[in-house]
Amino acid sequence: MEETKKKNGFASGIGFIFAAAGSAVGLGNLWAFPYKTSQGGGAVFVLLYILCVLFIGVVTMLCEIYIGKRAQANPISAYKKAHKNLGFIGLVSIIIPFIITVYYSVLGGYTVKYTVNSFAGNAGILASFSNSKWQVILFTTIFIALALLIVMGGVKAGIEKASKILMPALFIIMVGVVIFSLCLGEGVSDGLKYYLKPDFKAVVHDDNWGKTILAAMGQAFFSLSLGMGAMLTYGSYTDNKVNLVKSTAMICIFDTLIALLSGLAIFPAVFHYTATEGVSQAELGMQGPGLLFATLPRIFENMGIAGKIVSFFFFAMVVIAAVTSVISLMEVVTQFVIQKFKLNRKIAIGIVSAIAFALSIPVGISLGSAFNNGTTLFIFGVDLLTLLDTITNTVLMPVTAFFACVTVGYIIGGKNAANEI
Ligand code: PFF
Repeated sequence: MEETKKKNGFASGIGFIFAAAGSAVGLGNLWAFPYKTSQGGGAVFVLLYILCVLFIGVVTMLCEIYIGKRAQANPISAYKKAHKNLGFIGLVSIIIPFIITVYYSVLGGYTVKYTVNSFAGNAGILASFSNSKWQVILFTTIFIALALLIVMGGVKAGIEKASKILMPALFIIMVGVVIFSLCLGEGVSDGLKYYLKPDFKAVVHDDNWGKTILAAMGQAFFSLSLGMGAMLTYGSYTDNKVNLVKSTAMICIFDTLIALLSGLAIFPAVFHYTATEGVSQAELGMQGPGLLFATLPRIFENMGIAGKIVSFFFFAMVVIAAVTSVISLMEVVTQFVIQKFKLNRKIAIGIVSAIAFALSIPVGISLGSAFNNGTTLFIFGVDLLTLLDTITNTVLMPVTAFFACVTVGYIIGGKNAANEI
């Protein structure tokens, strides 16, 4: 048993940190964080976000990794080990990543399309691409296949190895794009001011502080991969060589750094464009989910050949971030399937990704309809991606995160946990 555990786990502490940081850094950082920042009034949102990471995120992450490490098993077994009645929280911790895999893969497909299409130009393609079912299915397939190949390799030779190569690559590209953006000249200082100097009066249009704080909190949970089995499952692959507190700190710092850099890459470019082209930010759609897929391509297009090159690297970076995140989502479900049904890894991940792929088709069609002002496959008046995102983010994840903290603080006991950690 010891032998198999060793064989299945991360080879080193740093490998675990790279993999967990890979899970955390994703579309949440590069796509959601910048547009939520602009919805939340700029720098004030950034400040609230950092406070949420510091005061809620770090502790929750430590609890989740610890629950996994302690049990060396999937979320259901791990929660049951803490208390026999907690198995259902483990089950929810597996269902959430599965749901997220479905819609995350659709967005991942978009990022692959935008990368390969960078030289042809992405400005204005959102409507036609999102509406073309076969293209969306094709690029979703490519994205899932990339993830599948990595997860198939196993924890050490697949996930850990890929993360150790891809995460430094992502960081280098990010630094390059930020430098490029900061050197654009006109408009850059206004962009920086908007992003970094809090204007408390400007908080959301309707003075809705509660909504902004909740948005910052939800964003912190999602970005740090909390409130579901991801950190727990990766934690279950660590051994005593791993320092949990240090690792948690490093993962949180890296994730927050990438989110902050992403804003630093995007806002100066947006303000540069609005200053030089005389377009308003509202018209440019800065304050919505289209920031990455509609606004930025327009800005890149305006920069000639340099813009095409930067676009390619930028979207390649987004693909990397998304792949290293989706593998952690898939791994949660795969680990459970392997342990529960005693299947081999390749068959388990094959089944998981085939079902996720099948379910991603209606989600992709529904999203395409939303981008084209239609309502095909809408439920409760929203597209399926928004629906699934809302259910997981606002209901399931906070509840699961709460239980993770209660499990460590009261059931295992704060003192016991502190000693073990
Ligand atoms: N943290 C990822 C992001 O910011 O995009 C998304 C994510 C990955 C959430 C893995 C949850 C998870 F388990």
